[in-house]
Amino acid sequence: MTEEKPICVGVVGCGQFMSRQHIQTVARSPLLKLQHVADLDRRKLGAIAERYHPIRSTTDWRNVVADPEVDVVVVGVLPQLHPEIARAAIQSGKPVYVEKPLAETPAECLAIQRMASERGLPVAVGFNRRFAPATQWLRTAFRAASGPVSIVYRISDDDRIRPPDQKWKLECRLLIEVVHVFDLLAYLLQAEPVSIEARETRFNDTMVLVEFDGGSRAVIHSSSWGSLAQPKERLEAVLDRGSVEMVDFVEFRSYGVPGVPELARFAGRPYDGCDNRHVDDFARRGLEAMLEMRQRYHAAMEQSGVLADSSNEQAWAEARRMLGDPPLPQINYASDKGWGQALEHFCQAIAEGRTPENAGAVDGNRATACAVAGRKSIQLGRPVELNPAD
Ligand SMILES: NC(=O)c1ccc[n+]([C@@H]2O[C@H](COP(=O)([O-])OP(=O)(O)OC[C@H]3O[C@@H](n4cnc5c(N)ncnc54)[C@H](O)[C@@H]3O)[C@@H](O)[C@H]2O)c1
Repeated sequence: MTEEKPICVGVVGCGQFMSRQHIQTVARSPLLKLQHVADLDRRKLGAIAERYHPIRSTTDWRNVVADPEVDVVVVGVLPQLHPEIARAAIQSGKPVYVEKPLAETPAECLAIQRMASERGLPVAVGFNRRFAPATQWLRTAFRAASGPVSIVYRISDDDRIRPPDQKWKLECRLLIEVVHVFDLLAYLLQAEPVSIEARETRFNDTMVLVEFDGGSRAVIHSSSWGSLAQPKERLEAVLDRGSVEMVDFVEFRSYGVPGVPELARFAGRPYDGCDNRHVDDFARRGLEAMLEMRQRYHAAMEQSGVLADSSNEQAWAEARRMLGDPPLPQINYASDKGWGQALEHFCQAIAEGRTPENAGAVDGNRATACAVAGRKSIQLGRPVELNPAD
C-alpha cells in the first residue's frame, strides 16, 4: 500500500461496463479509493456496495458531484446524460473522466471543452484503446512512417446477445462503438479527419471511408451482424514498404517495419469472480487462445438459446452454467484494451499536478463529429466534409 493519501473517486453508473471496468480498477488500485457510487438502480448499487464497500452510495448522481471528499468523478451512464453530469462535475471544480461518447453532438462536446478549459480542469474521454499494450507497438510503427498510410479496420459483433436493457447500444453504432476507432486512428496518425463517406449495407452494417489531412485514408467496417466466435477488432495498415496487423489487442504482427517486433502477444485482463486463466494464456498463445475462448463463448450463447432470444432469463441461466464456475469473463473484455491504465493514468496525473495524456474533450468532440458526419453521409449518399477548426 502507498503511504500517500489515496485519490477518492466518485463513480456515476454501475451498469455492465462500469461494474466490470472502472469500479474494479478503482477497487484494485492502491492509489485509488471508491468514495461514492451512484446508479438509479438500487439492486446494482447494492451489489456494488456488497462487493466493493464504497464509502457512500446514492441514487442521485448530484450527490457524487457535490461530495467534498470526491477528488475525481468517473461517468458512464447513457450517453445523453454525459454532458449534464460532466458540466456539473466541472462546475464543482472536479476533474472528470467521461465514458464514450462524450456527448451525442459536437456542440455539446464543445461546451464541455470550453467550460473545462476556462476552469483549468482536465476532462478525459474513455478512449481507452490509446492505453492498450498492443497500441504502443502500433504507435511506434506509425510514427516511423513518413508518408500517408492506408488502413483497414473491422469492428464487428453479434448484437443478438444484447439483453433488453442493453438495446440502447444498437441505435447508432457509429456513435456508441465506432467512436473508439475514429479516436484510435486520429491518435495513431496524429492527423485530423477531413472527410467521411459512409454506406450502410443493412442496419448497423456500415462501410466508412475516412480521409485525413496529410493524405492517409482508413476504411472502417462496422457491423453488428458478425459472430462472437470471431475476434471483434482487426487493424491492418500498409506503412512505408512494410505493414502491421493487430487483432483484438491480443496479437500484433509487423512485416518489414524496423523498431517493432515481428510478433507480440499481450496478456488478457482479469476480472473479479471470473475464470482468469485467459490472462496468461493470451500472453503465451495470443490469437490461438482467444479463438478457443471465443468459440466456447459463442457455443454457450448459441446452445443456451440466448442468441435466439436475449430476453429469455432461462437461456441466460443456461449460458451461465455453460460458461463454468467461476465463469469466463464477458468475451469483449477478455483482452486488455487499456481500460485500467487509462483511468489510473488520469487519476495519477491529477494527483501529481501533471496534464493527463488521455484523450480529452477535443478528442471526444472529434470522434462525435465523425459519427454524426457518418450518419449524415449515409442519409445524403455522398461524402461529408469535416472542418478540423470546429
Ligand atoms: N470504453 C469502453 O470500452 C466501453 C464499453 C462499454 C460501454 N461503455 C460506455 O459506458 C457507459 C455505460 O455503459 P454500460 O455498459 O455500463 O451501460 P448499462 O446500460 O449497463 O448501464 C447504464 C447504467 O446507468 C444507470 N443510469 C441511467 N440513468 C441514470 C441516472 N440518471 N443516474 C444514475 N444512473 C443512471 C442505469 O441504471 C444503468 O445501471 C456508456 O456510456 C457506454 O458507451 C464504454
